[in-house]
Order: sequence, then structure tokens, then C-alpha cells
Amino acid sequence: MRKKLFLQTFGCQMNERDSEAVEGLMLDDGFEKTAVIEEADVILYNTCSVRDHAEQKIFGRMGRFRRLKEANPRLIVGILGCMAQEHGAKFFKKNPDIDLVCGTGNLSQVAGLVREISESRSARLSTDKRLATDKIDDAYGLEDVRYRSNALKALVTIMKGCDHRCTYCIVPMTRGREISRNSESILREIKDLEGRGFKEVMLLGQNVNSYGKGLEEPIDFAGLLEKIQAYAPKIERLRFITSHPKDAHARLFQVMRDLPMVCEHLHLPVQSGSDRILRRMKREHIRSWYLGQIEEYRRLMPEGALTTDIIVGFPGETEADFLETMSLIEKARFDSAFIFQYSERPGTPAVKLKDDIPETEKHRRHQAALLLQRAISLEINQALIGKTVEVFFETESKKDRSRFVGRTRGYKRVVAFSETDCIGAFRLVRITGAADETLLGEIVQ
Ligand code: SAH
Ligand code: SF4
Ligand code: F3S
Repeated sequence: MRKKLFLQTFGCQMNERDSEAVEGLMLDDGFEKTAVIEEADVILYNTCSVRDHAEQKIFGRMGRFRRLKEANPRLIVGILGCMAQEHGAKFFKKNPDIDLVCGTGNLSQVAGLVREISESRSARLSTDKRLATDKIDDAYGLEDVRYRSNALKALVTIMKGCDHRCTYCIVPMTRGREISRNSESILREIKDLEGRGFKEVMLLGQNVNSYGKGLEEPIDFAGLLEKIQAYAPKIERLRFITSHPKDAHARLFQVMRDLPMVCEHLHLPVQSGSDRILRRMKREHIRSWYLGQIEEYRRLMPEGALTTDIIVGFPGETEADFLETMSLIEKARFDSAFIFQYSERPGTPAVKLKDDIPETEKHRRHQAALLLQRAISLEINQALIGKTVEVFFETESKKDRSRFVGRTRGYKRVVAFSETDCIGAFRLVRITGAADETLLGEIVQ
């Protein structure tokens, strides 16, 4: 009987791709997947540290390990990813049932470590042999894993780490310094995906538009997009996240406009509309620069979608600062926005600024910003009613199996009725209805 792996992922798409690669390596090692935690021989959590809430979800799950181990004494439990990198050996003290702690740079070792732990069960390995967090600043180590759990869309990590130092952010501590993969390795991976029939590729990095920094070859992010277009032209949709406003220039927008495969969607986190707060965040951009960049984006790509991330309740944020964020939301007219309440992260520079906005006030600002953004998203989506757009269908609706769910090139979610299975197909869809996060449509062709 094959051993069973239960693997759950928290956090961003980079974690999703990391988990997929770890899963591939585990399957190569003879495991099969299970969605039932009680059946598992190995439980792995790939974790996120970005906000306290994300960490609490993991800490909340740790209480179950005892009971699961009583039921299966050979069970191996591992914590992977950003929290593993951040807390390291402290996990072993916090919960002695944890067998393995493996950071973001050591993930290619997971299968080997699991094997060693399982072979030495009776004489339990010392904690230092079960801790792997030392490779955070090494080059990306998962480029050779071909395994994919989704047959339609592929995530491709093109760089790791972050050299910015936004004062609220823990990512530089959990992902290390910025390292770009060489373009040859990326192109090889995407060519392989093209050959296997993948239609959509999403490029991943904390700051994709500083891609190329530190590489010997003279290449920038726009240049990488051009190479992908030329080398793997059968990929129909190429997306990327995330871009930093500081390095999002007209050349990128031009390339987005000119390359057929690059989707008309830019995710450009602004974080705040107040220059005073942006300075305290060390964001390296100011309000007017941001608004100027998006004006340029819209000039070159009038139909392009624009989304963002926003933090409310950053230390020292006054009502006036918050209103500047609200007015930026109105001016920018984002298609959608992820809006977060500030969460203090241990070890980040913002700890010194003191988390001084009361929870109730953060909550109020959060709700107000969400409400405003929802109204704008709804208006933008309603304006699409009657238009015909291309949709790539990815799944069927859970509620009704004759309804299919897909995305436009601008990453808007569309639900449409179809008598025949259209998963994996591109269809022209006439938009007939709109909510703030979803469009309804009729397939016309
Ligand atoms: N590299 C990406 C962001 C990664 S984190 C970028 O710079 O765009 C994703 C989002 O989480 C951030 O854009 C920010 O809005 C939010 N975030 C990060 N740290 C946070 C914190 N301490 N509290 C609340 N939100 C945070
Ligand atoms: Fe964090 Fe800023 Fe780097 Fe994004 S750019 S990962 S918010 S430090
Ligand atoms: Fe979270 Fe790490 Fe991604 S902190 S957002 S999983 S980079």
C-alpha cells in the first residue's frame, strides 16, 4: 500500500507553486495524495506569515497533532514555508509532535527529510536534523519539478525574495533576498508546459518587474515577456504578479499592449493614498507617482484591468490619511482591491512605530474602504453588460453542474450556462449580469 500525503497550503500563489512542487517530489517518492487528514501518513502544512490571522490558523491546527499521532504512531508532521522560516526550531518547543520544520529555500529536501525521519523512528533524530532553514538565500531550487496538479493553468516562479523593505512586511525575512532565475531555465519550463497543452501561465515573484537584477545576462521583465512570446507562442494567456509601482514603467505597459499572449491586467499594490503613510511604510513611491503610472497604463491600455492591495490602520494613520486612501480608491477606480487591516509582524521595522490604531477603528476603516471599492467594482462590471468577452473556462460551478466558471483576460470571474462541457475551452461570452466580484454571461460562440 502506498503511503498517504495530506498537504495543505496557506498564503500566496508562490506557496501554491511550492506546494505543488513538494507534492510532485513526494509522489515520486511513492506517496499518494489524500484529502482526509485522519488517513495520512505524512501531514504537511505550507504556511504564511504575512498577517497574524494567517499564523493563528496554523497554530490553531497544531492542537490536533497529538490525537492524530495517537491514532497513527508512525505519522509524520511537517511545517513548511514562511512560518517555518520565521520561527524555525521554536516550533519543536511549542509542539513536540512536530517532526519537521522546513523553510522556503529548503523545500527540495522535504521528501528526503521525511524518508530519514521515517527510517529513524525508534531513535528519534535530534531537532537540528529535522530543521532545514539554511538555504533561504540560495538560488531557486524547484525548477526541475515538472509535476502539475492543474492541467490548464501553470504557475511559474521567475524570482524569489524581495529587496524592498516596506516597514510592515515580513516577506523579506521569510523569502530572503531577491534572486532571479535565469531566462533559459524559465523558457525551458514554459516550453515544456506549452508542449503539454497548458494554455495559461502565471509568472510569480514578489516584484516581478525588477526581474533580471543580478543576472549576468542583460534582461529585464519586459524582455522576459518578449522572449516567452517568441519561444512559446501557443500559450494563450500570460499573467504575472506582483508588480511594484516603483519599477512599473511605460516600457512594461507597451510590451503588455503589444504581445498577444500577455493579459490586459496589472496588479499594482498601492498600500495607501497618503504620502505621509507611504513614507512611514518606506514604500519608495508617492501618491502622485502612482497616479501618474496608472494614467500611463490606461493611456496605453484603455481596456486593461487594474487591481491593487491596500492596508488600513497602519501605525499613525490619521482620519485625514485614511481619507486620502479613500480618495485614491475613487480616483484610481480599481477593478478590485484586496484591503487588509494592518497586522503587526514581529521583527519588522514598523514594530517601532507602535500599532496605535484601535481594532475597532481599523475595522471601521476596513469596512468603509471595502464598501467604497465594492460599489466601484460593481459599476465597472455593470458597464460590461451587453459586451462580448473571451472567457477561459476552468471549472464547473459547485452548485449547478451545467454552469461553468472561467476568467476574462482581465481576470474577471464569469459564470455561464452550457449544455456541453467547456472546461479548458476558450469561448466568446456575452455579459448579461454583474455583481461586484462575478459576471454572468451567455456563451455566443
Ligand atoms: N510583494 C507583494 C506583496 C506581498 S504581501 C508586493 O509588494 O506587492 C501581499 C499584501 O499583503 C501586501 O501587498 C500588503 O497589502 C499586505 N500585507 C503585507 N504585510 C502586511 C501586514 N503586516 N499587515 C497587513 N497587510 C499586510
Ligand atoms: Fe513586502 Fe514590500 Fe517586498 Fe512587497 S515589496 S514583499 S510588501 S517588502
Ligand atoms: Fe505569505 Fe510567504 Fe506568500 S508570508 S504571502 S506565503 S511570501
